[in-house]
Amino acid sequence: MAMKLEQVVPFGRSFDEYVKMFSLSEADLQKSILSVADGPASFNAEGTERGYQIQSIDPLYGFSGKEIRDRFYAVLDGIITQIKATPNDWVWGYHASAEALKTHRIEVTERFYADYEVGKIAGRYRVGELPTLTDPDDRYELSLSSHFLFLYSDQLDAAFHLAAIDEMLRVSPEVRIFPLLTLAQEKSPYLEQAIAHLKASGHQCQIEKVGYELQPGGNEMLRICRSSANRSA
Ligand SMILES: C[S@@+](CC[C@H](N)C(=O)[O-])C[C@H]1O[C@@H](n2cnc3c(N)ncnc32)[C@H](O)[C@@H]1O
Repeated sequence: MAMKLEQVVPFGRSFDEYVKMFSLSEADLQKSILSVADGPASFNAEGTERGYQIQSIDPLYGFSGKEIRDRFYAVLDGIITQIKATPNDWVWGYHASAEALKTHRIEVTERFYADYEVGKIAGRYRVGELPTLTDPDDRYELSLSSHFLFLYSDQLDAAFHLAAIDEMLRVSPEVRIFPLLTLAQEKSPYLEQAIAHLKASGHQCQIEKVGYELQPGGNEMLRICRSSANRSA
């Protein structure tokens, strides 16, 4: 189904947040990386500037940079007001306050916006959506999902999650997902099922603590390494 912009909340995170959310080492960053559901994050823009190979996929990229940016500013104050009204629902560490978070998200969106049209021409921002990717097997060395899988467990069911992770493992031998909580700040009901499904296929799964936490308890990522039996020849 075509994405409707008025239903989207295009909030994005920075390169430094991605590094912390996914515990990305310099060796990880040297890999060819697919970042799914990347939205208006500035991971691709900042990473490309540093010389890394990052591709972003999101149905949002069917819209122009101006449309995405305008939508961001249309929802920004409402979200910040909600966050200010629930101060205890957030960990104020990396971001010192709701105002600091707002400033940071504006910087990220502007960074994304400045890179978007040139990145689209270069093929770094591509329209696409899970659970089906158009890339060939093993196109990437690492796939990331930030603030999409598990977070939207109310909207996307277990079957979607399992198919999406299988698809990410088809295009790369390693997948990392952050956070493992839902929007209601609870552990996703699909996490255990996904781990059982992946282990049954022989994949290695590990929940790891990371150095980033904005949702209380949201400081864990799932690392999945594909079974060698499933490696393409
Ligand atoms: C909360 S944003 C996360 C943006 C970015 N990953 C970050 O953490 O800053 C969620 C993104 O998921 C995208 N999305 C929605 N449905 C999707 C699908 N089926 N496949 C891939 N991305 C999808 C939305 O367009 C949106 O940009």
